[in-house]
This record gives sequence, structure tokens and C-alpha cells, in this order.
Amino acid sequence: MTNQQTIRAQLRQQLRKRRTSLSLHEQQSASDALVKNITKLPQWQEASCIAGYLANDGEIDLTQVMHHAWHQQRRTTVPVIHPFNRKNLLFLQFTATTKRVKNRFGIDEPILACPSVVPLKQHDIILMPLVGFDEAGNRLGMGGGFYDRALASSHHCSPRPWLIGTAHDCQCVDNLPVASWDVPCDVIVTPSRIIYPTSRDCC
Ligand SMILES: Nc1ncnc2c1ncn2[C@@H]1O[C@H](COP(=O)(O)OP(=O)(O)OP(=O)(O)O)[C@@H](O)[C@H]1O
Ligand SMILES: [Mg+2]
Repeated sequence: MTNQQTIRAQLRQQLRKRRTSLSLHEQQSASDALVKNITKLPQWQEASCIAGYLANDGEIDLTQVMHHAWHQQRRTTVPVIHPFNRKNLLFLQFTATTKRVKNRFGIDEPILACPSVVPLKQHDIILMPLVGFDEAGNRLGMGGGFYDRALASSHHCSPRPWLIGTAHDCQCVDNLPVASWDVPCDVIVTPSRIIYPTSRDCC
């Protein structure tokens, strides 16, 4: 392991502990505040197809965000582990009645069916769970590189989806050690803040 990998692994451990230590009440207040901030975003107001996720490991919960989207007749998806390329993700259509199964990490996901796959380029917004982030928009995930692989081609989409990281406030660090393959966030939303790291290129 390189020095940087060791630092990232230690940070992951610390930051995961912070979010799993939050009480149920703190988790609920965090989701209440998050939905208010996300729905304020101009990108949200214009979006018709939004990828969310089914929260796990203390991740900030998006249930209210998804309900808000459904109420406004927007299309929503969640990630599913790719059946062949097993370190990559597919995004599958997801509604209140979608049947779920546990994947190999014990995380809920929709049952894989080809007609439910929504290509990345059809999304207006991808909401990504963060383990850690900094104000420059860098993200630390769970360490599998799943989002990094799935989004590696997002720069070629035109227009490309907005990559919005979501996290608890306690997941912010000063300077995240960044790797060459890390795909940064365009915006980060927490219960108390909306962070625009840099002006994103419009394409
Ligand atoms: N686009 C890519 N192509 C090939 N391998 C990649 C790519 N992106 C990341 N990886 C590999 O994935 C591994 C984990 O990456 P990283 O530590 O950045 O995960 P992460 O960002 O925390 O996880 P995730 O993306 O699942 O949230 C690294 O060893 C890296 O080599
Ligand atoms: Mg990464």
C-alpha cells in the first residue's frame, strides 16, 4: 500500500465511524435539512431524471428526496452492481413499488432487468453518497472505485449529468488526498451547506 492509500484508508475508517455514530434523531434531522437544500438547487428544479441511492452504513438518507421527485413525476434510478463488470455500476429505474434484493455487500438494490437500465447520459443529476469530501469538491467513497468507474465516461456526455455529492456535515475534511482516477463533485450538499467547489464547464 502506498502512503496515500494508507491515509485514505485511515480517513475512510474515521469518517465512516462519524456517520454511523449519529443517532436516529440526528439522521432524521439531517435528511429533513438535506431535502430542503437539494430542492433549492436550480439543477434540481430543471431535472427530469435523477439517480439517488438506497442509504447504507450511516449514509445520509435520500428517502424524502426520492419522494419529492416522485411527487413531481420525475424519473428516478438507483445504482446496481454491474453483473459482468463487477466493479462498475448500472443505474436502474426505481419507484416506490420496485422490488429490492440485497447485493453482495448487503446493500439493497432493484432486481436487475435490462429494460429498467437507464444509461448514464440520460440522467440530469447523479446524487452520490460520500464517505468524505473537501471544499474543492473531492470525494472519498467506500473504496471500491464503483462510482469512479461508472462516472469515468461522464465527461463525454453532452450535456453531462450534474454530479452532486451528499453527506453529513461531519464528513468534511480540510484537504482530501486525491487520486488520478477520482471523479470530483460539481456540487456538494449537506444539511447545512450547498458547496459549489469550482465553476463547472458547461457542455
Ligand atoms: N476509472 C477507473 N478505472 C479503473 N480502475 C479504477 C477507476 N477508478 C477507480 N479505480 C480503482 O478503484 C480503486 C478504488 O478507488 P477509490 O479509492 O478512489 O474508491 P472510492 O472513490 O472511495 O470508491 P467509490 O468510487 O466506489 O465511491 C482504486 O484502486 C482504483 O485503481
Ligand atoms: Mg475515488
